[in-house]
Amino acid sequence: MASQLFSTKSPDLLISEAEEPERQMKRSLTALDLTALGIGAIIGSGIFALTGTAAAGQKFGNKMETPVINFIQAFLTGSEVHLGRPGAGPAIVLSFVFAAVACGFAALCYAELAAMIPVSGSAYTYAYATLGEIVAWIIGWDLILEYAVGNMAVAASWSGYFVKLMYSLFNVKLPLWLVADHKTAAGVIERGGEALTYFSSTTLPVVAGHQIAINLPALLIVMALTVLLVIGIKESASANTAAVIIKTTIVIFFIAFGAFYVNPTNWKPFAPNGFIGVMSGAAIVFFAFIGFDAVSTTAEESRDPQRDLPIGMMASLIVCTTLYVLVSGVLTGMKHYTAFVDDAAAIATAVEVSGKPWVQAVISAGALAGMTSVLLVFQLGQPRIFMAMARDGLLPQYSSKIHPTYRTPHITTIWTGVVVGLVAMVTDIGSLADLTNIGTLFAFILVCLGVVVLRRSDPDRRRPFRVPWVPLFPLSGALLCLVLMFSLPVLTWIRFFVWLGLGLLIYFVYGMRHSRLAAQNKG
Ligand code: ALA
Repeated sequence: MASQLFSTKSPDLLISEAEEPERQMKRSLTALDLTALGIGAIIGSGIFALTGTAAAGQKFGNKMETPVINFIQAFLTGSEVHLGRPGAGPAIVLSFVFAAVACGFAALCYAELAAMIPVSGSAYTYAYATLGEIVAWIIGWDLILEYAVGNMAVAASWSGYFVKLMYSLFNVKLPLWLVADHKTAAGVIERGGEALTYFSSTTLPVVAGHQIAINLPALLIVMALTVLLVIGIKESASANTAAVIIKTTIVIFFIAFGAFYVNPTNWKPFAPNGFIGVMSGAAIVFFAFIGFDAVSTTAEESRDPQRDLPIGMMASLIVCTTLYVLVSGVLTGMKHYTAFVDDAAAIATAVEVSGKPWVQAVISAGALAGMTSVLLVFQLGQPRIFMAMARDGLLPQYSSKIHPTYRTPHITTIWTGVVVGLVAMVTDIGSLADLTNIGTLFAFILVCLGVVVLRRSDPDRRRPFRVPWVPLFPLSGALLCLVLMFSLPVLTWIRFFVWLGLGLLIYFVYGMRHSRLAAQNKG
């Protein structure tokens, strides 16, 4: 049994399996398409919806919502634990830089593996080639947190900006119970005041003694994108490119426009909670970087994956880091960071200082475009990972089928759409984003370690792209990701372990018995 758990799949086998005729996808994506896909997945809810909270921090009286790093600091200094999430303040700029450096190391490692094993499945596939079946399964299961749970969070915040845009552009108000999940709706009602102005009614209907509220826009946007993704990869890539152009333009517009309203006194104090504030902020805004790795899931659909995958990932990461540092610097210069407490639309709030309502409408439109393209890329990535897992027998085989006309993995695409849409309809964004972050950081750590392992176990394989300074770079990446994981709350860790436990159970009940590799090894 132990031999099956740690059996690895040779990269040659992985590549040849992907080349079986009935499994072939259309190779149409160029380096520019891949960079656009990367930016498409990166700029979204992280910068538009989470930056304010990361700068302002959150007050919680309980230990569960407190980052693990606060306990470590208290232990090391012998002081009392500060409860709640410390805000980074204007030093949120440093939080972005820290998260970007961690992602940069991970991106180099992704690039080496993606160029070497250009097969859909991303970190899952690389783990299968390097660390063994059980680790591959864990990582595949863990990637559901990054892709599907991440998208649930993005769909939920999409709807928030959609409501604002309908109001500011067309003066259309929708009933609260149709555009928010129950927890968010209850929060809006509790806050009262200006928050209520966006809705035509704020009473929640009662069915069988329970108040009902559903986030219908979240469901509808996910369904619409699912249809697009089934129809074709090239069509999806074109829609994505349009969204990328819109959101990047609007982000640059915010930087240029906002720069005129910066008041340097707002940057004081720069780092109100010191190092742990910066780290706690970094663990939140890490969400804003997730996505460059999704580029690697399109390996079988890109024209020259070995050259273009590294270019696509690194280029998109560099562009986005530059934009984020500028956005967050301008944001905290326009308004004092304390104004962004519990604000899920900080960028739209900051432009209020200009007194020009049209600017707010433009920003909301940019945020919507941003989130739409994130949804698109992640809805594209998740089915391809499921497909890779099904191809290996760890999930039911039928889901690895490719549509005869459209050449897309339609079964997994539709399943992912239905589940993400339904959960997004009834869940709030908050903790979904933290869970996404911990899952993704864990995947990044395994990818970094995978590079080191494969350099030793298979040193002669052709590597079209090589990470410099191995093992220093990959190990630094793994360490920085671990520090970010510790900067997440205790509750997130507990949820993460429960998720992994559930995954292991499924592996031992199903995957282990149906593994194609195990059957081949036996035969
Ligand atoms: N990076 C993506 C976002 O911020 C997940 O929405």
